[in-house]
Amino acid sequence: MAKLRVFVTRQLPVEDWEQIQSFAEVEIWPDEMPPPPDILEEKVTGIDGLACLLTDNIDAQLMDRAGPSLKVISQVAVGYNNIDVAAATQRGIPVGNTPGVLTKTTADFAWALLMAAARRVVEGQRFVEAGKWRTWSPTLLMGSDVHGATLGIIGFGRIGQAVAKRAQGFDMRVIYYNPSTDLEIGKQYGAESCSLEEVLSESDFLSLHVPLNTETRHMIGTDELCQMKPSSILINTARGEVVDQQALYQALAKKTIAYAALDVTEPEPILMDDPLLSLDNCIVVPHIASSSRATRRKMAQMALDNLITGLKGEQLPNCVNPEVYK
Ligand code: NAP
Ligand code: GLV
Repeated sequence: MAKLRVFVTRQLPVEDWEQIQSFAEVEIWPDEMPPPPDILEEKVTGIDGLACLLTDNIDAQLMDRAGPSLKVISQVAVGYNNIDVAAATQRGIPVGNTPGVLTKTTADFAWALLMAAARRVVEGQRFVEAGKWRTWSPTLLMGSDVHGATLGIIGFGRIGQAVAKRAQGFDMRVIYYNPSTDLEIGKQYGAESCSLEEVLSESDFLSLHVPLNTETRHMIGTDELCQMKPSSILINTARGEVVDQQALYQALAKKTIAYAALDVTEPEPILMDDPLLSLDNCIVVPHIASSSRATRRKMAQMALDNLITGLKGEQLPNCVNPEVYK
């Protein structure tokens, strides 16, 4: 019997490929850059399983190109906005993702960005590198205190809650906007559920943790930024498209808000002529919030587990469209 065929769109930190290679022929895209769309279409033709990243556009056309043999799509990330899940469901294809294993690592990084923005760490590094450090100064690079401040969280799921937990050690008031969350969950973290308007207007730090979908695309735009305090700091480790980046530039340039720290941008990578990169009050890093060695290994293994179970026709341990099994 012919072996099952699998395409993996990038090299992954998987410790033992034998667990899948023993029963499937696995082709791993070797380049640092993702496979271009036309090559991806070619590579998926007739495959049984696909492991993909958030940089790959997995739409209905690609699924049709793979054909009826495609049994599973396994995303190496928790967010899956690059995959047309409705199209996968329509075709009976389960889609896997990697929730949970990256929650703490991502929350740690949101915290790193929050601290770096509050205390102007990146500006300090640039100042030293430019040879400007001549003496201790009473007013040099004064920032904002984190302790005692109000932290607003939009999207109070796994990562949002983990960020709230970290705020407890800083004696912060924590407020969040996530209408569907059980109020008891907020209480565990000493956090109050609020309206979006309250979270925007009362937060000193605002951290975004919603998934990207039609409802959350550009949910932070000019109107929302205008409701924020002029001293406030925005942290985005969710998806770049959750924020209207042009509106954010205007808000930072006009000091409608004080600072932003972004792990994610629209597009990715950010264009080198994006005006955000010209601002001293904006930190941009290359989508690395889940990038600890241990977490990236766990994500790869979790994606492999989804892939293997999908190839065997069993229910994926982490499936975003479990309705395919009904
Ligand atoms: P999660 O547990 O599903 O949490 C997302 C929360 O957002 C849910 O509680 C959801 O509530 C809420 N939400 C959805 N739409 C909302 C809206 N319009 N207004 C307010 N709240 C809303 O997901 P997670 O594991 O925390 O991950 C969140 C996102 O972070 C991922 O989707 C991914 O895009 C991003 N992420 C980025 C990185 C990175 O490297 N930068 C790493 C990991 C994750 P409902 O349940 O009611 O929908
Ligand atoms: C990373 O951005 C993820 O969604 O896991």
